[in-house]
Amino acid sequence: MPQIVRNVSQLREIVAGWKADGDAVGVVPTMGALHDGHLSLVRAARGDCARVIVTIFVNPKQFNAPADLLKYPRTEEADAALLAPLGVDVVFAPPIEEVYPSGFATTVSVSGISDPLEGAHRPGHFDGVATVVAKLFGMTAADRAYFGQKDWQQLQVVQRLVADLNLAVKITGCETIREADGLAMSSRNAQLSTDARACAPALHAAMQRAAAAIRGGAPVPLVMKAARAEVLDAGFDEVEYIELRSALMLERVSQLDGPVRMLAAAMIGGVRLIDNIAV
Ligand code: PAF
Repeated sequence: MPQIVRNVSQLREIVAGWKADGDAVGVVPTMGALHDGHLSLVRAARGDCARVIVTIFVNPKQFNAPADLLKYPRTEEADAALLAPLGVDVVFAPPIEEVYPSGFATTVSVSGISDPLEGAHRPGHFDGVATVVAKLFGMTAADRAYFGQKDWQQLQVVQRLVADLNLAVKITGCETIREADGLAMSSRNAQLSTDARACAPALHAAMQRAAAAIRGGAPVPLVMKAARAEVLDAGFDEVEYIELRSALMLERVSQLDGPVRMLAAAMIGGVRLIDNIAV
């Protein structure tokens, strides 16, 4: 089993020892409820770094809806068991007061890239993410950090944060891991009812069809309108957005010049799913 560490001073001591030995340190930041997507990040870290830390912290600052925070799955024991065979050195799972002690007053805000899509639908979400990620980088002093491309906008926010603050950590974005039916793996999938789980792959399927149509030259507004309708027809309750954006700056685009991403968020049976694909 990996060593479970709950406070920053102990973590610092361990990492200082590794660094004194010249070991590269990789970190995989998570909120727990681990699945194969997370494990693929851990394997990538393991491949690159002599030492691997997985952080497990359900960060209240990035939840804009209190009910969402309450029902977020917490499965630390099972998570540690999943990590054991992967050669993770440390699981850093701090209590909330270790991360946000009384008097905590700093917010890290990455403007621009945080504003559309998730930022527009979850006000304050990326301030919470950027703040905790900056702290996790400070606490772990990792040389490398691994994030899933499933949270594409988050990945761009973190890249911007690292560049803007000259943080000495190299970010790797790892490919989205999907179930056999195309559903992107997510800790939230565990909250889907049987019926909702059966409908959920329709989001990715609609996105793929839309991407193929756009690549084939069909007009973007019409294709995106049809994709939205397809997702709703499949049984989703709401499509918050399904849009074509430039891959790095996330600006609206209506044609394929340069790298383009299709990104979507939709609600099904009270669960909010997000996905994105290259077009
Ligand atoms: O992607 C996540 O699980 C979270 O947003 C992260 C990066 C661990 C920050 O809390």
